[in-house]
Amino acid sequence: MTDTGRSPDTNRSWRLDRRPDSDPADGNLRLHREGLPEIADGEILVRNVYLSIDPTHRIWMSDIDQYMDPVELGDVMRGGTIGVVEQTRSSRLSVGDIVTGQGGWQDYCALSARMVRKIELASGLPLTAYMGPLGNIGATAYFGLLEIGKPRPGETVVVSAAAGAVGSLVGQIAKLMGCHVVGIAGSDEKCAWLTDDLGFDASVNYKSGSIYDTLEAACPNGIDVYFDNVGGEILDTALTLINLNARIATCGLISTYNDLEQGGQGPKMYRNVLMKRATIRGFIVSDFLRRYPEAFAAIRHWLRIGALQYRVDVREGLEHAPDVLKLLFSGRHDGKLIVKISEEP
Ligand SMILES: NC(=O)c1ccc[n+]([C@@H]2O[C@H](COP(=O)([O-])OP(=O)(O)OC[C@H]3O[C@@H](n4cnc5c(N)ncnc54)[C@H](OP(=O)(O)O)[C@@H]3O)[C@@H](O)[C@H]2O)c1
Repeated sequence: MTDTGRSPDTNRSWRLDRRPDSDPADGNLRLHREGLPEIADGEILVRNVYLSIDPTHRIWMSDIDQYMDPVELGDVMRGGTIGVVEQTRSSRLSVGDIVTGQGGWQDYCALSARMVRKIELASGLPLTAYMGPLGNIGATAYFGLLEIGKPRPGETVVVSAAAGAVGSLVGQIAKLMGCHVVGIAGSDEKCAWLTDDLGFDASVNYKSGSIYDTLEAACPNGIDVYFDNVGGEILDTALTLINLNARIATCGLISTYNDLEQGGQGPKMYRNVLMKRATIRGFIVSDFLRRYPEAFAAIRHWLRIGALQYRVDVREGLEHAPDVLKLLFSGRHDGKLIVKISEEP
């Protein structure tokens, strides 16, 4: 049996061994063991505490043209982390500081001190919140909805993967903007959470019955903003119901990520973009990096007054990370998926 546990003088890292053909499968990633990384001037040694597990990891595993370089075969799998500084050769950061950055799927990482953000734990929120509403997830929901969706009070906003990390925030922010909000999710339990706990006006279980009929019934005035997290058939259905001058924020296409090499299929109802003079705009959250403080100030305020709720789903053990990634594609998780690698300081 392979020893998969942590030890303080060893760095375990998941490296990309084989590119997936479709779904992420056993053997795409391999667990390696080596000594701790050495740090150079300007760098810090970070013990990773939390690893963010994101749908985009599947994109990075594919050798396709994308918004950043794919992970090379043999390289440590890229991933966002929160960790604690254990050694420093930079005047910017001290031992014990908590930082977030791209620490990868591993126990320890050497990072440039310029490439991380120090987390100030003043707000009393748990550390995991900085991987959810106060991290990329929150910024994605905030800028994607407000800058691209541009919702106005009274308009109908539809969001897919609505019970997920991004989607659940999008719907709640749209409610704060005075919109009629409809969430699409993959189970009755998730749908009930959206309406009963988060205050969505309606929800649609896309795995039960005709999604067109239920979505049409939930949107009696049509759709003004569609925040797309999934692409595919759900995008097509939303396009069928859009209003004049609708805005479609293309945030993610998770229903196609296991089929990227084949190119997938374009939307059949693309013609409605013309007929309805709609705008479709894709975005990557880092496009808004300089404006993150604006998003976090607003989100922190909404959290403080109880206007925003979020869920994190923390799974223990770096050794389980590939199995945790698979959960994103089955939907068998509740909220922002995170792997806990080591204890919080
Ligand atoms: N543009 C950006 O900068 C940016 C940044 C972050 C995330 N994203 C994108 O935002 C989307 C959501 O990411 P997240 O981190 O918040 O993940 P998440 O929503 O917490 O988890 C993914 C969810 O997608 C749903 N899903 C999976 N396969 C599906 C399919 N074939 N059809 C329909 N729904 C499916 C599942 O929910 P159900 O149980 O409801 O099916 C699953 O729980 C992803 O597409 C991601 O790539 C984009």
